[in-house]
Amino acid sequence: MQDDLDRILFRETTILRRLDELAGQISKDYRERELTVIAVLNGSLIFMADLLRRIPLPLKLDCLSVASYHGKAQTSGEVIFKQIALPDVMDRHILILDDILDSGHTLAAIRDKLQTAKPRSIRVCVLLSKKKRRARHVDADYVGFEIEDEFVVGYGLDFMERYRNLPYIGVLRKELIAQPG
Ligand code: IMP
Ligand code: MG
Repeated sequence: MQDDLDRILFRETTILRRLDELAGQISKDYRERELTVIAVLNGSLIFMADLLRRIPLPLKLDCLSVASYHGKAQTSGEVIFKQIALPDVMDRHILILDDILDSGHTLAAIRDKLQTAKPRSIRVCVLLSKKKRRARHVDADYVGFEIEDEFVVGYGLDFMERYRNLPYIGVLRKELIAQPG
């Protein structure tokens, strides 16, 4: 799998060191409030597991499953919720966890949908945020790393469902992404 990468961006130790900082910040911010984490599957799985084990607060965990990519490297803009019932978030302090903020479609759709269930507050935490103009504006309250507008895989992030199990994050070689049509 490593041969498919153009270069490595963040090694495992670098990621985990950054998670220590993020977890410290989140723990401080939520020490007086009961936290409910909503993890967006599948991309945030590994990030979630490593981050939550660094937060020594009582918290609830729910997961949401959405699809917006349909196997391509570009977002379609259409976000499909894969489960029928949304988690019960009424009056709760919600922290949405996702792997990466790209066009903003996914997180904007999730935020809007959860908002209709009347949570007390909503914040957003992403491991990666691409520096680019977004199709939809999303305020990420906690960001692991800002990256350039390149397609990255590993540490939960996939290309056509592959590479999620790489322990580090790297830029996928461009010729692997190029698709006809
Ligand atoms: P957005 O809706 O364009 O913000 O895209 C968010 C979703 O697209 C993320 O949750 C990822 O699953 C996927 N995504 C966006 N950029 C990348 C990338 O560089 N690598 C892997 N997945 C990505
Ligand atoms: Mg994905």
